[in-house]
Amino acid sequence: MTPATLSDPVGVLKGFASLRRLAGTYPAGHPMITRKVQELDETIQRYLERSPTLRVEVIHGKVFLDGASFDSDEPGNAQVIHDLSELGVDSLHIHAGVEPEELLRVAEFLWQFKEGPVSSPIADQLLQRGVRHVSIGSLVPLDTRWRAEQWPDAPVGPLDPAYAESLRRTQDTFDAVASGEPLKPVTIRDLVKLLVHEVARSNAALAQILAVKQYENLTYCHSVNVAILSLLIARQLALDEATTGAVVEVALLHDIGKTRVPLGVLKKPGTLNKRERKLMEAHTVLGAEILAQVDGLHPLAPTVALEHHRAVVGTGYPDLGDGVVPHPLSQIVSVADVYEAITGARSYQAPMLPEHACLVLARLAGAKLNTAIVKAFVNAVTFFPLGSMVRTNHGEVGVVVRTNRADPLHPVITVTGADLSPSSGEIDTSARTATGEYERHIVETLMPPAHQQEGAAGQQ
Ligand SMILES: [Fe+2]
Ligand SMILES: [Fe+2]
Repeated sequence: MTPATLSDPVGVLKGFASLRRLAGTYPAGHPMITRKVQELDETIQRYLERSPTLRVEVIHGKVFLDGASFDSDEPGNAQVIHDLSELGVDSLHIHAGVEPEELLRVAEFLWQFKEGPVSSPIADQLLQRGVRHVSIGSLVPLDTRWRAEQWPDAPVGPLDPAYAESLRRTQDTFDAVASGEPLKPVTIRDLVKLLVHEVARSNAALAQILAVKQYENLTYCHSVNVAILSLLIARQLALDEATTGAVVEVALLHDIGKTRVPLGVLKKPGTLNKRERKLMEAHTVLGAEILAQVDGLHPLAPTVALEHHRAVVGTGYPDLGDGVVPHPLSQIVSVADVYEAITGARSYQAPMLPEHACLVLARLAGAKLNTAIVKAFVNAVTFFPLGSMVRTNHGEVGVVVRTNRADPLHPVITVTGADLSPSSGEIDTSARTATGEYERHIVETLMPPAHQQEGAAGQQ
């Protein structure tokens, strides 16, 4: 089957890009706009005569037409692709029946989007503008593609209230820094208090942080989680209260430099090119700079921001000279950071289950991560305390009634309804198949009904 011909799919993207610029520069009805609309419409209609839909996708900087890759070496094209991906546009589907007017509305929409993120779904916004034959993918402030069906085990339950509150406050703080406001040490101190005294004391919150994550894996969520995981390590290492508070504070701020990394790079799905990787890696230095300018923070906050991607053997970024070993606080944050990153969903990749994540940590111990800290982390985490309500990858909901000493990630549960209705039998989730695979995994800790919370056994 020969695909419908389109000599240059980038031409369509280019057409939209220049129409977008024209629509933002000249008044409606300007002859330049009319001409561009006509040109673009002609190209698209020619294609649609042979195929009901024109699908252009940009994946990792490459243009795909109806799923087939299309090489584009022209420098001008690279710029258009870059501009569109800066806007978060990476798929454009145009269906037969599209009117020139709709093309113009899409271009105007793209222009307005540049001025600020949109609140309602893209499809609704386009419909309101009378656009029914064009759909745009990923034109949202968050890369939410990982919510796709490819991850059927995504948690669905609500978050622990204290945890949700800490996420909200951290997001506000990070958003303020991103918009150029100074970081307020008092806000950070309050957040640290909330994390230490409430979030870390809630079994439900801890379980939600340790499990795979359902929400957008953005800097603020990641930072709260890393702070709590670092706190678990600090407790396990028997650090005193003041040092533990310092660990939580520096961990919460370790990635603050990401507020200075372009969103397009931060949320780009898949691998980054060299330039993007440099920008991303710069979050360490940028973070240290931001934090060094704020009076009243823990003095090690800039150090940890600078060093948390460096390995215990003295490699990693940024380059601080051969053999420079990170500060112990940085080493704690690094362990929490790696665990959090791999149990969080990333684009095109389902999150790793806790047991796999622990194996990864074990593999990194000694070279990248400090072995003693990795051990402390693995010992510190009681993934599923007695009484926690969990869901398995088979969809069963149950309450943890026993933990397997040798296998804390696969407890014994009694199966219940989501409302804790009478048990319908016990399941040992550590059971394996004939080939040695686990029969089931716990994929989510659910929030128990309010009256049950008191009954949950304490965190070890
Ligand atoms: Fe980082
Ligand atoms: Fe991080």
